[in-house]
Amino acid sequence: MPHAAIALFQKTFGVAPRAAASAPGRVNLIGEHTDYNGGPVLPIAIAERTTAVVGAAEDGLLEAVSSNGGAVVRMGWQEELPAGWGAYVGGVLRELWAAEALPPGGGVRVAVTSDVPVGAGLSSSAALTVSTAKAVAELAGAKLNGRQIAGVAFRAEQDHVGVRCGVMDQTIAALGKTGHALLLECASLEVKQIPFRARLLLVNTGTRHDLATGALNERRVECEAAVKQLKIELLPELVWLASWPAEWLPRLKRALKDPIRSRAVHVVGETARTRFGAQLLSQGKLKAFGALMYESHESCRRLYQCSAPELDTVVHAAKRAGALGARLTGAGWGGAAIVLVGKGEKKIVDAIKRAFVKAYGREPAISDVKASAGARPEKAG
Ligand code: GLA
Repeated sequence: MPHAAIALFQKTFGVAPRAAASAPGRVNLIGEHTDYNGGPVLPIAIAERTTAVVGAAEDGLLEAVSSNGGAVVRMGWQEELPAGWGAYVGGVLRELWAAEALPPGGGVRVAVTSDVPVGAGLSSSAALTVSTAKAVAELAGAKLNGRQIAGVAFRAEQDHVGVRCGVMDQTIAALGKTGHALLLECASLEVKQIPFRARLLLVNTGTRHDLATGALNERRVECEAAVKQLKIELLPELVWLASWPAEWLPRLKRALKDPIRSRAVHVVGETARTRFGAQLLSQGKLKAFGALMYESHESCRRLYQCSAPELDTVVHAAKRAGALGARLTGAGWGGAAIVLVGKGEKKIVDAIKRAFVKAYGREPAISDVKASAGARPEKAG
């Protein structure tokens, strides 16, 4: 992949790049909508990656080009951020500048190539911000560790682009490890690598989730409302919704009204499922882990209302065909589902395809997921 990005850089800017890095997309095994509530998540980095190659530009200028097409972005990143993908790159430069990790003068050229599908819930945006942050930090000779890179990328998206995401996507893109899932506690940022070698399928429903940003922001507001209410009525020291003790669920249910009650019940339940799931996975108990995946999907569908008919069709068909587990992954409202496969993979794949074709008249894209490496430097020439 670096070759294509290097060639694009050279063609666009007429010089060779000076540094390069790549970062992966991700799927989340379990722990949905828990990150911004201070709970745990359990994502893996996928094989699809974004590569960013970089070089110096005129002082204060960002020039960026992407293989996805469109004009070259050219802007003074301190004064303005453009609409679209350039805003993510500009946000990264602003955060690197704050971290004193930009080359002198702050002028940067970037060329980006990617095979992470956009709009499928696989976190193409974190692959972009993390790869760019890593490449530019390399260019500046700044020694930022994986957590710092994740922090730069997270703040770029949250504070500059204005997506109210949690820390999961940038953290797994920065810290992912081949053959492992990452248990990340989003309040403490404590991490644990957990071996993951099971057969996992990704079913991309091909429904885009452009609407998801609005819905995600709406859910965040609802979760904040739940915390505020619970603080006033029951627990003044509550900071994160995910810290609500599971054994106090009846009190929570009495204190809140729907839809906020359902959102909160999902978050508290999903938090317990994710921690338990991580234990099961580290003990190799895939069947029990798969059962938690189904529960998680059901909770997303019924309580958090972030599923979509296409995702439900896939999960339902997978379950009937004997898959160990299946659920939506990422924000939801379309995008992709994951299926944990034990025996009878072909039968499961056929059943999913058949059910999907029957409902929507087309086949979903089904591929293997391999737990892959997080961000890494690449050769720039
Ligand atoms: C999106 C966000 C993540 C996370 C998931 C839901 O992908 O970017 O931070 O909140 O939704 O789990």
